[in-house]
Amino acid sequence: MDEKLVKKRRIVLVPVPAQGHVTPIMQLGKALHSKGFSITVIQTQYNRVSSSKDFSDFNFLTIPGSLTDSDLKNLGPVQFLMKLNQACEASFKQCLGQILKEQGDDDEIACVIYDEYMSLSKAAAKEFQLPSVVFSTTSATAFLCRSVIAKVNADKFLIDMKDLELQDKLFPGLHPLRYKDLPTSAFGPLESIPRVYSETVNTGTASAVIINTANCLESSSLARLQRELQVPVYPIGPLHIAASAPSSLLEEDRSCIEWLNMQKPRSVIYISLGSLALMESKDTLEMAWGLSNSNQSFLWVIRPGSIPASEWTESLPEEFTKLVSERGYIVKWAPQMEVLKHPAVGGFWSHCGWNSTLESIGEGVPMICRPFTGDQKVNARYLENVWRIGVQLEGELEKEDVERAVKRLLVDEEGAYMRKRAIELKEKLESSVRSGGSSCSSLDDFINSFKDE
Ligand code: UDX
Repeated sequence: MDEKLVKKRRIVLVPVPAQGHVTPIMQLGKALHSKGFSITVIQTQYNRVSSSKDFSDFNFLTIPGSLTDSDLKNLGPVQFLMKLNQACEASFKQCLGQILKEQGDDDEIACVIYDEYMSLSKAAAKEFQLPSVVFSTTSATAFLCRSVIAKVNADKFLIDMKDLELQDKLFPGLHPLRYKDLPTSAFGPLESIPRVYSETVNTGTASAVIINTANCLESSSLARLQRELQVPVYPIGPLHIAASAPSSLLEEDRSCIEWLNMQKPRSVIYISLGSLALMESKDTLEMAWGLSNSNQSFLWVIRPGSIPASEWTESLPEEFTKLVSERGYIVKWAPQMEVLKHPAVGGFWSHCGWNSTLESIGEGVPMICRPFTGDQKVNARYLENVWRIGVQLEGELEKEDVERAVKRLLVDEEGAYMRKRAIELKEKLESSVRSGGSSCSSLDDFINSFKDE
């Protein structure tokens, strides 16, 4: 590490306690650790990352004042996060103050990197005059959308978003996104969106924004975002290729790898909706019918609690078990990155969370896109329309559409073209994190920016 950085070598990370946020911030920690920084993770009691052997070099601090699973259920993720920030603001400040008091001469804090939804970091970093940096776990395009929405007239925006006739039309200035692709949330009232977004895109006193993306995926959104924001934007992803950091909050069922080992190359569709998306019983049944009728094999992650009013799958009719038993394998949580790497997997049915999107492209696997909420809608549109490696299922989910989408991806020539394009993108992503690649250089630029502090 550079001489000037030796004194200030500790970086404090502040994750949102949810899988889709924890995974990339821990990968960022690993990438920075490999560059010589010490890493301290300040987390709440809710959904803690364990200091396992994979992170034995990291320092984990847990602050009091957390919320619970039932708070998440009652409030929904958006309100939950707002409350969590309020509940933990004072203890976070105290914790940061304590680190500063105890830090050695050779171990000063270089900066606090906080998830864009952990606004509690802003006031504390400001009070202690510590450099702070925003970390975005979504795409640059989703960030850009939030920035655009935060600036439009809120009343007009709310009227337009409720206008059914506008939904299929392009949203001005955000081509190729339509009104219905904008990252509004299914978890909270539309009315709160402009306020929540102006909070997240307000970088406050932060000196930079780090985004888990790569220039080859989103060059025009990145260029525009750089013009919109007052601080440097560093695209340093995909982090899962740059730095491995296993941080699953749920237990992975590895038996599915043994099952995949028995399947033919590229014959399986992998289905997973990430850590938060919910699935109506009716849609689950249509999926099962469509998958069964497609005659293709499938590995399906059904997360406990993802079907409303059901612990797991017990509320589904018996018909469901019959439909999936012949060609399907169901688990509660899978080692996703290993699954996507597996030669038997030919396609990924996804809710299009940004991590899943990057992981799928990173393995050259084409996708069936069925976004559930928020930024997933933006990613799905890009997968189908910009990168052209996905088929989006829109509107009511019907078994005939499911069957057709699975065949398009796994059987038809169209699927082979999508796979070819996905593999080309995979190669570009790999180059971007290699020495001399855009993301690798961006990470170096970020680190070098400390020298000017
Ligand atoms: C959400 C948003 O959808 C996402 O876009 C945002 O950036 C973070 O918050 P989530 O819905 O959980 O995240 O989806 P995703 O971003 O895809 O993250 C899920 C993670 O869980 C992935 O890293 C995936 O590999 C992992 N996973 C998922 C497993 O390890 N096993 C599984 O069975 C399913």
